[in-house]
Amino acid sequence: MLILGIETSCDETAAAVVEVSHEHGIKIKSNIIASQHEIHNKYGGVVPELACRRHIENISPVITEALNKAGVKINDIGLFAVTKCPGLVVALLVGLSTAKAIAYALKKPLIGVNHLEGHILSIFLEKPDISFPFVSLLVSGGHTELYLIEGFGKYKALGRSRDDAAGEAFDKASKMLKLGYPGGPAIEKTASSGNPLSINFPRAYIDKDSLDFSFSGVKTALKNYLDGFIPPYSTSSIFLPDVAASFQQAIVDVLINKAFLAAKMYNVKTIVIAGGVASNKLLREEMKKRGAAEGVSVYHPSPILCTDNAAMIACAGYYGFVAQDFNPDIDFYDMDADAEMKL
Ligand code: KG4
Ligand code: ZN
Repeated sequence: MLILGIETSCDETAAAVVEVSHEHGIKIKSNIIASQHEIHNKYGGVVPELACRRHIENISPVITEALNKAGVKINDIGLFAVTKCPGLVVALLVGLSTAKAIAYALKKPLIGVNHLEGHILSIFLEKPDISFPFVSLLVSGGHTELYLIEGFGKYKALGRSRDDAAGEAFDKASKMLKLGYPGGPAIEKTASSGNPLSINFPRAYIDKDSLDFSFSGVKTALKNYLDGFIPPYSTSSIFLPDVAASFQQAIVDVLINKAFLAAKMYNVKTIVIAGGVASNKLLREEMKKRGAAEGVSVYHPSPILCTDNAAMIACAGYYGFVAQDFNPDIDFYDMDADAEMKL
C-alpha cells in the first residue's frame, strides 16, 4: 500500500510517499519539505499568518513533487494521512482541507494524525525492529515531554515542560544573541568553538523524582547575563561561542538526566529521542555515552526525520490505520484542526 503523508502544523510544508509491504516494512519513496525559515528568520519566530499564506502557495507543488519523486500517480495512493493536531490552527487547516478534498475526490481513506505521535514513531522508518517498551524523549519547538511507549497507540505521559519547550528555549536564546531562527542549529553551530564550562547556567530539576522540565529559568539567567553587556554582543567583550556552548550544555544536561531517570523509574532499557532538538549532536552523543555506561540502548532518527516532515505522519497514519484507530465518518467529514490536543 502507498500512503501519502501531509504535514503543515508549523513552518514546514511537507508531503511524503511511503510504501508498506510485508517484505520491506515501511519504505520512504519521497520526503519533500519546503521550509519557511527564511521568511520567519527576521522575526525570530514563526508568524502564523505568514506561515499560513506560504503553506497555501506551497501545498500543491510540494504534493506534486512528492508524487513525482516517488514515481507514482495520485490514484495509486491507498491511504492519506494528515497532521490534524497540535500546531498553529491556520497552518494545520491548509494541510487538512487539502487532504480532505483529495481523499474525498478519490474516495480513499483519510486518517488524522497527532504530530507528536508522528515524531515518536519516526524511529520506525529507520529501525523497525525496536522493541517495546521504551522511553521516548520528545524534544521539539513546542514540546518537551517524556512518554513510556508500551506499543503502537499505548502511550503513558510521564513528564512535560511546565513552561518553555527545549527548542523554544534555544529559539529565544538565539534571538537574544541575534543568531537567527531556528535557534537550535544556530546555537549548536556557534557553540562548536566554545567552552561549555565557561558560564554556569542553572539546571532546573524541580525535585529529585520529578519527570517534569522547566526551561524558563535558564532563559532568564541568559538574559541577566547579557544585561551586563552592551549589544551587539559579537563586538563586545562577550565570547559568543562560550555563551552558546554553556547554554546548550545546560539544556542538554537536564534532558539527559530526566530521560535516564525515567528509564530507571520504569525499568526500561531503551530510550528513543525524537523531535527537532533530537538532531542536536551534543544531545545525541552524550545520550549514547551515558547509555553505554548504564546498559541502556539509545536511538534517534536521522536529522531529516527529527525536524518536521511528512514521512513520520505517513508512518504514524499507517499504524493508526492498522490499529483500527480509524473512523471513516469522523476522519472524513468531522475531523478538525486542534491547536492543543494531547497525545
Ligand atoms: O520538531 P520541530 O521541527 O518542530 C516542532 O514540532 O516544533 O522542532 C523545531 C525545533 C526548533 O525549536 C529548533 O530550534 C530545534 O527544533 N532544533 C534544534 C536543532 N535543530 C532544530 N535544537 C537544537 N539543536 C539542533 N541541531
Ligand atoms: Zn514537530
